Amino acid sequence: MSPKLARCMVNLSHIKEDQLLLDPFCGTGGILIEGAMIGTKLIGSDINWKMKNGTLINLDYCSDIDYCNICENDFEAHHIDVRELKLYKKVDAVVTDPPYGISTSTGGEKSGKIFHQFLESIDYNMKENAYLCIAHPHYLDIDPFLNELGFKLLERHKIKMHKSLTRIISVIKKTN
Ligand SMILES: C[S@@+](CC[C@H](N)C(=O)[O-])C[C@H]1O[C@@H](n2cnc3c(N)ncnc32)[C@H](O)[C@@H]1O
Repeated sequence: MSPKLARCMVNLSHIKEDQLLLDPFCGTGGILIEGAMIGTKLIGSDINWKMKNGTLINLDYCSDIDYCNICENDFEAHHIDVRELKLYKKVDAVVTDPPYGISTSTGGEKSGKIFHQFLESIDYNMKENAYLCIAHPHYLDIDPFLNELGFKLLERHKIKMHKSLTRIISVIKKTN
């Protein structure tokens, strides 16, 4: 994901300085780095420990540079499957780019199933009225999952990547 799109998604999540941002499919931390630049506190997690370590290295680097607004106490990263994620504190916003199974691995799970299971588990980790900004492929209809789990869709934007993939950015609010 480009830094520009990552920053755009962070902004769409309504997160403010000093609030807590979570990316549960953090990869090497592209989205979290954009959060760092606007001074949010950060939690990343990933099923792949190498990715989790990459995030920690990148955020550690950010904490040493002036234009990033974080210090080493402001971030943490965990090696965990999103379906088992139960944080000890609820977050103000979730911004994430789950795997579609094209260039990034879903760990053998069907992409639609991962999105459903992700939404089920993320609900527990979000504060009341928290926002979720998520990227998903055009061919995956996440609306039935949103309706089933009590999430409200607020905005939707389309980005054409190439002839067989349009990326959809959905901004969603937890309503329960
Ligand atoms: C599209 S990448 C995220 C890229 C990230 N936005 C970045 O800029 O670096 C998706 C990530 O999801 C992770 N992943 C796949 N299945 C997962 C699961 N069940 N729980 C947590 N992470 C998972 C993969 O290891 C991969 O790092």
